[in-house]
Amino acid sequence: MLLHLSTWQEVEAYLQRSQAVIIPIGSTEQHGPTGLIGTDFICAEAIARAVGETTDALVTSTLTLGMAEHHTGFAGTISLKPSTLTLVIHDVVRSLAKHGFNRFFFLNGHGGNIAVLKTAFTEIYNELPDVRCRLGNWWASNEMYKLVRELYGNQEGYHATPSEVAVTMYLYPDSIKSAPLSESVNKDSRIYSPEEFRKRYPDGRMGSNPSLATIENGKQIFELSIKELVEQYNDFLAEV
Ligand code: NI
Repeated sequence: MLLHLSTWQEVEAYLQRSQAVIIPIGSTEQHGPTGLIGTDFICAEAIARAVGETTDALVTSTLTLGMAEHHTGFAGTISLKPSTLTLVIHDVVRSLAKHGFNRFFFLNGHGGNIAVLKTAFTEIYNELPDVRCRLGNWWASNEMYKLVRELYGNQEGYHATPSEVAVTMYLYPDSIKSAPLSESVNKDSRIYSPEEFRKRYPDGRMGSNPSLATIENGKQIFELSIKELVEQYNDFLAEV
């Protein structure tokens, strides 16, 4: 059930049977020469909607902007500062909690959001003691790490990864890009200022080789992430 395609009466009816909601959150940021700027929210949104379908959960509109300060040296990146994003997350939860929601599952597509989400959760728990939040990063499970290692070995890297690019290729085959990628790519993962980021990672990739991505891999990764996140969501609901 998708919030943006529902009426308020339908949301009230949903609340009679569940007080849990899935919130997809991503980012709008550069993903190297072949990755779409929407990669992080495209992945989070599609996975969240599939998890929602399987678990009969309400899925909110996608939070498409995330904390991407370090990518702002590249054209097209839109970032919320950590302090702004903390307030946004807090306000989203506060709004929905007013209506009776008390379990918030954030299905996240961007590593830069993790620290901010955890900060926001702490603030939310202080204000709304009956609320529980859970963070589900779609790429982070043992099974997923295993699959990605099988597919891409040590070329997965940290940003503009073949796995996330593959998922967008599967979801948006008409928007697949091709561009020359230099063989040598900085393998470290340190992040300082936006200027320093661009110097260190000149084409936007961090240790990754997204030219390995294929539509078929994307389907495999997408389907595994749904399976893993359905488990995490059900585990969250079953928590005492
Ligand atoms: Ni990404």
